[in-house]
Amino acid sequence: MADLMWWQKAVFYQIYPRSFADGNGDGIGDIPGIVNSLDYVQDLGIDALWLSPHYPSPQFDVGYDVADYTGVDPEYGALEDFKRFLDGAHQRGIRVILDLVLNHTSDRHPWFVESRSSRDNPKRDWYVWHAGKNGTHPNNWYSTFGGPAWERDSRTAEYYYHYFFKEQPDLNWRNAGMKKAMWQAVRYWLDLGVDGYRLDAIGTIFEDPGLPDHSVPETLIELGLAAYHAGSEAERKALAEEYKVLFKYQHDLPEVHDLMRELRALVDEYDEPLRVLVGETDEIAFYGNGHDELHMNFNFPLMRTERLSPAWIRANQKERLLALPPGAWPCNTLGNHDSPRVRSRYGDGNASHDGALARLSLALMLTLWGTPFLYNGEEIGMTDILFDDVGIFRDNLGVWFYNAAVNELKVLPAEAVRLAAKFGRDKCRTPMQWANAPNAGFSPEGARTWLPVNPNYAQGVNVAEQRDDPGLCGRRTPMGGAQARRLCPHAVVVRPRMDAYSKASKALFEVFDFDAAAEGSGIPALLRRLGELGIGFKDLDTRQSSLEEIFVSLVSERG
Ligand code: NOJ
Ligand code: CA
Repeated sequence: MADLMWWQKAVFYQIYPRSFADGNGDGIGDIPGIVNSLDYVQDLGIDALWLSPHYPSPQFDVGYDVADYTGVDPEYGALEDFKRFLDGAHQRGIRVILDLVLNHTSDRHPWFVESRSSRDNPKRDWYVWHAGKNGTHPNNWYSTFGGPAWERDSRTAEYYYHYFFKEQPDLNWRNAGMKKAMWQAVRYWLDLGVDGYRLDAIGTIFEDPGLPDHSVPETLIELGLAAYHAGSEAERKALAEEYKVLFKYQHDLPEVHDLMRELRALVDEYDEPLRVLVGETDEIAFYGNGHDELHMNFNFPLMRTERLSPAWIRANQKERLLALPPGAWPCNTLGNHDSPRVRSRYGDGNASHDGALARLSLALMLTLWGTPFLYNGEEIGMTDILFDDVGIFRDNLGVWFYNAAVNELKVLPAEAVRLAAKFGRDKCRTPMQWANAPNAGFSPEGARTWLPVNPNYAQGVNVAEQRDDPGLCGRRTPMGGAQARRLCPHAVVVRPRMDAYSKASKALFEVFDFDAAAEGSGIPALLRRLGELGIGFKDLDTRQSSLEEIFVSLVSERG
């Protein structure tokens, strides 16, 4: 379809570099490992990659604490490796977008090292510094990662602001010099041929310069725990609202839209191909007028449920699609490196049942209207693993939660580890499972991987054993939907009009036909196969509602 841009037709796949493929056998994923895996990615039918941060970093937040915006972390390789990766992807027709962390740097970034060195350093104003009030923090704001949003720096006896960890000081986007330096870094990768950016945490870029106190009586950890124990969607929604009030002065300030327009204009200077921006936000406002801010923002509300039911999907699509400004393009996902694995979140622990669910969720992603983003490992149905020892945790958010639960809420340590393992993000960041082999084929036998591998690689959750039928990731499986999108991008099922559905369905389902033996009945094989598997979404009586019925009902609701 000539009228669609490449990123509208593409299936995106997120690579979390530390966990994807270990090229040099040191237990840590790296860029040479990714280069070796490009054929696999191509075979999956992926059109574009989002690479989580690959920049030099102390790894306090696994790369989201950037110490140099124009480099490559030595653990991941060198710039030459990155160029090989980019070339290799492009040669296979796969585009690459990088992760751009605008809100904060690492506290080891030379900009911050300078900024903190004295009150009159030229880079002092590149970060957000304030004097204390009444002998303590400038106000009562929280860091979303726990504790106060302010850290006193004894060198200059002032506080710096950090929305995330104190190792991630916030940049001051009202400073023109800093902005210029960051835009140079943005151009650096675009000039190298990178196809765009996923923008980290854009909602947090500006905060209220008047520093008003928030008015929420509960502490952050109390809200977190209440959300964890919430028994209903309504309760969860109410807590999310309260969370918003807590961060009201630190989030989504109107100025951020001017900045996004500026960034969009910069990116639009590049063409052949046009570059793309996708925001880590679900705020529709970041689409601007549909053409002047970000090309896409994630439909996170879709995944914010414990039960993926047809009613939930339908309500989400209705709300979301109707809210988009003219010309704006949807973007769907069910998971990433910050959220539980799809199979763990929506499944119920029954292996065959959850396998069907994993297939179905892929089919859903690949057929909803809009661009799908898949997180590495979803295509083989990887699951969360909950570590029972804080010493194994690599996500400092889990470590913080454990300490806060034990020290502030007086939770017993064994229970605190359990809660922290669920709250933290290590659970979905374990190494990619390539084979039924030592270390799941991620690293050689004997290597100590940066996070332990999930032992279920030995139960068929691995690439090698699923590559050919009847697993998840072969071409004749739901991942065939990736091919379908490319061949026939309008063959997405959830379209506003029923006729589009009928016309498109043939091409789509032919590619989806992963069970040749079932052909000839007139019912698309994938649908029949899923129907036979019997189970779709958790609360769905699949004897009455096949996948086809789900999709048809989604379509007719909008038709
Ligand atoms: C969102 C990223 O996805 C997450 O992993 C990170 O910790 C925060 N932003 C801070 O950069
Ligand atoms: Ca390595």
